[in-house]
Amino acid sequence: MPSLLQSIGLLRFRHRFIPALHRRYGDVFSIRVMPEGRRLVVFNRPEHVKEIFAGDPEIFHAGKGNAILGPVMGEHSLLLVDSTQHKRARKLLMPAFNGHALRGYEAMVTRLTEAEVGRWPEHEPFASLDRMNALTLEVILQVVFGVTDEERLTELRPLVNRTVNIPPLVFLGWGLPGLQRYGPWRRTVENQVELDRVIFAEIADRRRASDLVDRSDVLSRLLQVRDESDNRLGDEELRDQLVTLLLAGHETTATALSWALHELGKDPAQEAKARGAAVAGDTDHLEAVLKESMRLHPVIPMVVRHLMAPATIGGIDLPRGANVAASIILAHDSETSHPDPTRFRPERFSEGEVAANTWIPFGGGVRRCIGAGFSLMEGVAVLREVLAAYDVAVPAGTREVPKVRNITSVPRHGARIVVTRRRRTSATSPWSHPPAP
Ligand code: HEM
Repeated sequence: MPSLLQSIGLLRFRHRFIPALHRRYGDVFSIRVMPEGRRLVVFNRPEHVKEIFAGDPEIFHAGKGNAILGPVMGEHSLLLVDSTQHKRARKLLMPAFNGHALRGYEAMVTRLTEAEVGRWPEHEPFASLDRMNALTLEVILQVVFGVTDEERLTELRPLVNRTVNIPPLVFLGWGLPGLQRYGPWRRTVENQVELDRVIFAEIADRRRASDLVDRSDVLSRLLQVRDESDNRLGDEELRDQLVTLLLAGHETTATALSWALHELGKDPAQEAKARGAAVAGDTDHLEAVLKESMRLHPVIPMVVRHLMAPATIGGIDLPRGANVAASIILAHDSETSHPDPTRFRPERFSEGEVAANTWIPFGGGVRRCIGAGFSLMEGVAVLREVLAAYDVAVPAGTREVPKVRNITSVPRHGARIVVTRRRRTSATSPWSHPPAP
């Protein structure tokens, strides 16, 4: 097939194209991708995935594959840098995502969720993806950026929304300075300049804040970290990391949650079980629900590494310059790794059936998603609030399929659900939640 067609198959029709190649060519195959027709070698077996994730970070670079995000995320972005620069940035960002920090974010996530779900219409189908997008955006603004001033939030919301919704064509042409004078490219650049102005103003205000040490949001934590030479993160670097967290953490989590609500809505027995867990405070089961939704509906289709030197994977010698991928779609759909793979069965996770390197929605190795714990914490808090407040069902005749949206895959029809408010029970209040700080 010409590389143009292969690239279109990969970018637009990945959910049919990749499994079709797997059926035809077996566990390892390559795709020629535009513009240079360079080979992307696709793996999915757990032992191959392990080799990719454990590969020497000096040889297995991840930043290069994400270069297209450069104009938006900036040169310091954790997603774009490799080698020593990546190691340094990762070390500085990590404490804001460890278990202790995550516990500090949970009450705020719960409060924002409560406000969001309180506005949902009863008995009227709506796209859960839209509501989850609105909610996870609010979480990024208030819990990650730490903005609580209503005036600044009002200023930020439309700017951030336009950044998140940059159309693919605008993305592709962005690298060409000539285009930046015209129509959608000019508007995108103007939006970015304005967004940066507000972010820099927020950083400046926060640096001056007298209560910085008491604040628990991600930005406030990042303002206090120092590297080995005792240097703090500079304004430009902070800006790049904040925009990265926004773009990497907002729609991904919203998509995973909307699929989870859709799956629960389709399956009354699983919905009742998840509610029981929500009311009893059984976090493990709610986490299993999220994990199983992410297995069945991977938000990101694959992770890619660019080889800076020859390497061998699965006994196959690959040259310097090759790109290798761990296919999340294929790894999650494997009958061997996940018996009855098309069935939604969260119990696989609680019953310890899921082996290492077979469930990889967050990638792996030194580049594993830094927000994995954050998104699971957020997801559990959201499911708990939704299920405590409502019965969730899908409208009759609903059939949901994935649709490619830039890098992520989202439910084509927005994962529509119908909710009915639950009556308060005497034993445990279904609206019970951890106290607000
Ligand atoms: C369901 C939600 C999410 C999914 C499915 C997801 C998925 C991924 C994947 C597949 C990668 C690439 C990993 C690799 O190359 O091995 C990644 C990286 C990353 N993610 Fe996430 N992510 C999610 C949520 C988040 C959240 C909530 C944040 C931050 C608030 C975040 C921030 C990042 C960052 C900064 C990276 C780059 C890490 C590095 O290169 O060191 N993600 N994510």
